[in-house]
Amino acid sequence: MVTIMVCIKRRFEDQPSCAGRGSEALACRLEAEIASQALPLKVQRFPCLGLCEIGPNIKVVGGDLYHRVDEAALPAILSEALGTR
Ligand code: FES
Repeated sequence: MVTIMVCIKRRFEDQPSCAGRGSEALACRLEAEIASQALPLKVQRFPCLGLCEIGPNIKVVGGDLYHRVDEAALPAILSEALGTR
């Protein structure tokens, strides 16, 4: 089963972070899609991928690392994780 890692680190005091840019909602959206379609994927929340300036960052394990992810990018990420892109 392929894992999709979503950085959910939140920083304070005006520091950029993935959660500060909405990554928790993206993780929930991915989980909802996976559940509703019974996809053989899982989401793992991750504390920081070290690229905070260009988040939200999402990594398909064994595949691409996506930056500045928004909801519009999620279908492509799911597609890659499923090997159907
Ligand atoms: S906060 Fe997401 S990569 Fe650091």
